Amino acid sequence: DSLDLCFFCRHFRLLGLVTLWLGVIFLAGFFHTNPLRPSYPQTNVMFLKTHKTASSTVMNILFRFAEKHNLTLALPAGQNYHLGYPHRFMAQFVEGFKTMGQSYNIMCNHMRFNLPEVQKVMPNTTTYFSIMRNPISLMESSYAYNKFFTPAFRRSKDVNEFLASPWTYYNMSECTNNVHARNYMWFDFGYDNNAMDTEDYVQHVLAEIEQAFQLMLLTDYFDESMVLLKETLGWELDDVVYFKLNSRSQDSIKSMTPESKEKVKEWCSLDWKLYQHFNRTFWRRIQETIGLEKLDQEVNLLRMRQKELMELCLLDPMPIDKTKIKDKKLQPFQSGRANILGYNLKEDMANETLRTCLRLITPELQYMSYLYAHQFPEKKRKSTAFSLWRR
Ligand SMILES: *[C@@H]1O[C@H](CO)[C@@H](O)[C@H](O)[C@H]1NC(C)=O
Ligand SMILES: *[C@@H]1O[C@H](CO)[C@@H](O)[C@H](O)[C@H]1NC(C)=O
Ligand SMILES: *[C@@H]1O[C@H](CO)[C@@H](O)[C@H](O)[C@H]1NC(C)=O
Ligand SMILES: *[C@@H]1O[C@H](CO)[C@@H](O)[C@H](O)[C@H]1NC(C)=O
Ligand SMILES: *[C@@H]1O[C@H](CO)[C@@H](O)[C@H](O)[C@H]1NC(C)=O
Repeated sequence: DSLDLCFFCRHFRLLGLVTLWLGVIFLAGFFHTNPLRPSYPQTNVMFLKTHKTASSTVMNILFRFAEKHNLTLALPAGQNYHLGYPHRFMAQFVEGFKTMGQSYNIMCNHMRFNLPEVQKVMPNTTTYFSIMRNPISLMESSYAYNKFFTPAFRRSKDVNEFLASPWTYYNMSECTNNVHARNYMWFDFGYDNNAMDTEDYVQHVLAEIEQAFQLMLLTDYFDESMVLLKETLGWELDDVVYFKLNSRSQDSIKSMTPESKEKVKEWCSLDWKLYQHFNRTFWRRIQETIGLEKLDQEVNLLRMRQKELMELCLLDPMPIDKTKIKDKKLQPFQSGRANILGYNLKEDMANETLRTCLRLITPELQYMSYLYAHQFPEKKRKSTAFSLWRR
């Protein structure tokens, strides 16, 4: 009898050991995933769409998500394409606010941020995020795009000449027309882009932005940003796969001299500090959530899926010149000296595939008109009647 008992207990101990090991392996796997990822997809989202930061690509992602989940968008009132920019945002800039207040899900059009007014529109469970870009390349992009609207840019030959002596071209009294020329992000976040750069003031603003936004993405690490976005919102990989929208042709990108690059840090010192700060918090966030190793894996998955979809959808392997876009309705809006690129779709796709592909490449103005017509069928807005969508 005692022999039998011992036989039993030895096996029992072995079984315990095996269970323990399985547990360790399971836990390791568990902690390898992001402990802060929400267990269901967040559907209330506010995106502060900053200028010249690849934010049109993010907007396309949000539009697609809104359609997939039948969400309500806080779209600009009337015939506007933005939410009152460059004025500080007011709740009444949103179509239908008086009757629908706080029942919107997604807000993502250009605005100059104003938290108390945004809170009147969005539910209190909303996740706020935005995107920032290195002020050096931001300046170059802003110059090309706003060349003919911005007095400070109009008066100079090119971005290097402008930066060699900005005060020659920049007149502080022309403030709102010149916001593209100095501390552009600072302005978009609702602050004074000509404010004195003092330590206390900058710290105060950084703290305020940190408080309002749960997540800050970076254009310069766009794929990493998409992974972080998906993890923060509990979304799927396919929700954040994208085709680059509103990109410029290589020949409309002006190279900046080393002196110009250094000068931006001083001329746009508020934006420079803003970017430095959120570049640090971005990498800290990655470490606290998925870690660098998992990040790399996820970025690879994203790029593989993107490649797959590009092969499925696109006629050309890269974005193409506007003159080469066959369907005029799919031409992106053009501005300044920038040659904004677009796409041609493959022919003879199945209807379902065509729908998926079309959503990925539709420029923001056309996509917005479509969503507007869908959400407010009774309003007569000059909709770019998208016959393709109805398939
Ligand atoms: C989408 O939402 C609207 C209102 O929010 C509702 O009337 C409609 O039935 C929904 N459609 C689907 C397909 O769920
Ligand atoms: C959010 O709003 C709901 C209803 O509007 C309210 O019941 C709830 O207490 C609010 N939660 C927070 C954290 O403010
Ligand atoms: C700056 O702009 C203001 C207002 O438009 C104008 O009165 C002033 O003369 C301008 N200053 C310079 C130096 O051009
Ligand atoms: C942003 O952070 C990364 C990682 O720490 C660093 O390599 C990079 O130089 C930073 N960029 C700027 C513009 O400071
Ligand atoms: C695809 O869409 C076209 C145009 O609306 C329609 O005529 C056709 O029947 C659709 N094909 C399928 C397989 O649904």
